[in-house]
Amino acid sequence: MNETLERWQSRRAFILAVTGAAVGLGNIWRFPYMTGENGGAAFLLLYVVFVALLGLPMMMAEIMIGRAGRRSPMQALAFLADEAGVSPLWRWLGLFGAMTTFFILSFYSVVSGWSIEYLVGAVNGDFVGRSAPQIGSGFEAFLLDPLRMTFNHTLFMLLTMSVVAAGINSGLEKLNNVMMPLLYLILLVLGGYAVTTAGFGEAMHWLFTPDLAAIDLTVVLNAMGHAFFTLAVGACALMAYGAYMPDDQSLPRAVFAVALLDIAVALLSGIAIFSVVFSHGLDPTEGPGLMFVTLPVAFSGLPGGQLWLGAFFLLLLVATWTSSINLAEPMVAMLVGRGWRRGRAATLIGALVWLVGLLSVLSFSSLKDVHWFVGMNFFALVTTVPPDIFLPIGGLLIAIFAVWRMPKEAAISALGVSPGRFVIWRTLVRYVSIPLTAIVLLSSLI
Ligand code: PHE
Repeated sequence: MNETLERWQSRRAFILAVTGAAVGLGNIWRFPYMTGENGGAAFLLLYVVFVALLGLPMMMAEIMIGRAGRRSPMQALAFLADEAGVSPLWRWLGLFGAMTTFFILSFYSVVSGWSIEYLVGAVNGDFVGRSAPQIGSGFEAFLLDPLRMTFNHTLFMLLTMSVVAAGINSGLEKLNNVMMPLLYLILLVLGGYAVTTAGFGEAMHWLFTPDLAAIDLTVVLNAMGHAFFTLAVGACALMAYGAYMPDDQSLPRAVFAVALLDIAVALLSGIAIFSVVFSHGLDPTEGPGLMFVTLPVAFSGLPGGQLWLGAFFLLLLVATWTSSINLAEPMVAMLVGRGWRRGRAATLIGALVWLVGLLSVLSFSSLKDVHWFVGMNFFALVTTVPPDIFLPIGGLLIAIFAVWRMPKEAAISALGVSPGRFVIWRTLVRYVSIPLTAIVLLSSLI
């Protein structure tokens, strides 16, 4: 066992850290626009089903492996594969996860930079008295300004990497303790406001009355990918956090709590955002800009709106910050496990991710029409393929390792469950989660 590794200071710290990883742009930014682009309630329904059948059980598998290995993902997999006497090639799964987090973090930082821009804008009162179309064209003008975007992207990478460099106990735990509860509070206020708007009824209908005819293979694949993305499963990032999990904590209970919170945050932001969309005749299929147009519009109609808007973007920033710290952790832990100093590892990874992020920045101006893959520019590609394809592939392999490769006893003790419950979990993963993920992935490839 690797005794030098840090441990979360308390059970609450672990739950907060995993919630911090899960709750982020996926819930507040991606969920609403994906729901908008994929036909509304049908997408939501599928996403919740996928969270229950794949996301949750695979999340347990992933954290369990980290906890059993007590090392960085690649080294934990190498160690456990060796112990179980199975192929040493399993360690490359850790590298695949690191690559996935690398690309996700590269766009994550850019979009989080948009929040910085909007936070400053709200504090300056830039949105006061502006109409929905004015706010919309303001966002478009911002996207056409690579310098401003790069500035914010740089700032966000610095924020992330400074916490990662400080290590989990001193860095992340302190931040999580204060900020996560505040985020829920402000979302509740926003949800309360949504109830009073004219578009609330239509938003509820749009979100909760599924049109099953709207479901096609793309919608299914997108919903599955989103379930992985929002729970932060499939990139070995939670595996890295599992390594720091105390021995006496129940893993399933923690994971259930996180998933419930994660869905609650997505629903609240969905309700708030679509109420505004329908109240102001905005377009639900607007795409990645959806949140950045609807929220300033919503708050401009509220008393003290700019204050609320500023607070919202501040908390969103914190939510994305805690997720991006998790995204960076497996890559940094991999280098630290090879003897690097944390600070140096964080600097190198940060610099590389920042560079690739510039391609996303430019995807709205000079590289807009440069298509990398089936008509997608870099930003479209990187916001689609790593979340919707790489995460499910990673989750699939993680699950296979957990239920077909790891010795039963090791798995039971790392999960912290009774043998009876273990069998239920393993049966679910073997005969539901794994085949379902494989079927959706394969059929979308064909
Ligand atoms: N779950 C995060 C979000 O919803 C994104 C994420 C994906 C974080 C994968 C870590 C790993 O924003």
